[in-house]
Amino acid sequence: MSAPKVRTAVFPVAGLGTRFLPATKSTPKELLPVIDTPLIQFAIDEARNAGVERMIFVSHPSKSAIDRYVLDDADLRRTLRARGKAGLADELYEHAIDEDNHEVVFVMQEEPLGLGHAVLCAKDHVLPGPVAVILPDDLILCPKGCLSEMIEGYASGGAGHLVATMDVPWEDVGSYGILDAVSRKGPFVRARGMVEKPAPDVAPSNHAVVGRYVLDAHIFEALERIEPGAGGELQLTDAIVADMGARGLAGFAFSGIRFDCGSKTGMLAAQLHMAKDDPAFNEVIGDLIESTVPPTVVTAA
Ligand code: UTP
Repeated sequence: MSAPKVRTAVFPVAGLGTRFLPATKSTPKELLPVIDTPLIQFAIDEARNAGVERMIFVSHPSKSAIDRYVLDDADLRRTLRARGKAGLADELYEHAIDEDNHEVVFVMQEEPLGLGHAVLCAKDHVLPGPVAVILPDDLILCPKGCLSEMIEGYASGGAGHLVATMDVPWEDVGSYGILDAVSRKGPFVRARGMVEKPAPDVAPSNHAVVGRYVLDAHIFEALERIEPGAGGELQLTDAIVADMGARGLAGFAFSGIRFDCGSKTGMLAAQLHMAKDDPAFNEVIGDLIESTVPPTVVTAA
């Protein structure tokens, strides 16, 4: 059976980003750069590579910088060309979403009432079929693209709701949604539930859910049915659990590496990871490593 096509990607970008205050007072978290590339750019590239047709950004009126970033800025490109920077102008054009090839929709979430609520805001704008959800602050570097892998595997997963999962150290399970796994076959982890932030001694597995989802369209009905959960917010995981009896739930163990760029440590790790592979930063990284070698301690005789 061929899988229904995943034609829509939803990017929830309306959150407050409190862990990055004061930076996020005026700069949306999703525009914070890893070296020179904003987080949202990685997410857009991943969705484009996965072949989605429509990108829906669920944003907030105070975060209009995101709209300005994702769309083409012909004036800026003209100015760059006039100043002999044609290469840079071309690069900007490649980064921006080309509205001839992709539909772009901005929907406002007036209040940050949770990830589930943000996804629900996209309901009236999605194309028929399953929907991808990408959390831009989860940076996933994987040769093919995490979403491409998930969409390719969606039909074989045997479940309507497919969530990206990675094995985390047992002592870290309390920071994640954790799958109640039944079996594992290749990258697919069949699950009968999900537990939010369990203590390590009661966690059903160490398969943690991270920010990529391919969800059956019935998720919107489930989101309308559920009550606010943790933190008084409408939780996406609650809706997935509410609907998994009917549609099925599986985890997808993607290949590659993931950085939680919504946290300072994750963002720093991403910066260092990118810098270490770039010859432009060899000297800086080398100096940094040298300067962290503890100095020889000379004690007075
Ligand atoms: P997070 O919980 O990581 O983002 O949500 P946050 O709430 O903005 O960050 P902190 O915890 O206060 O630092 C993951 C993604 O979901 C979006 C965020 O913008 C982020 O991209 N989100 C979250 C919404 O769009 N709406 C919400 O109500 C909550």
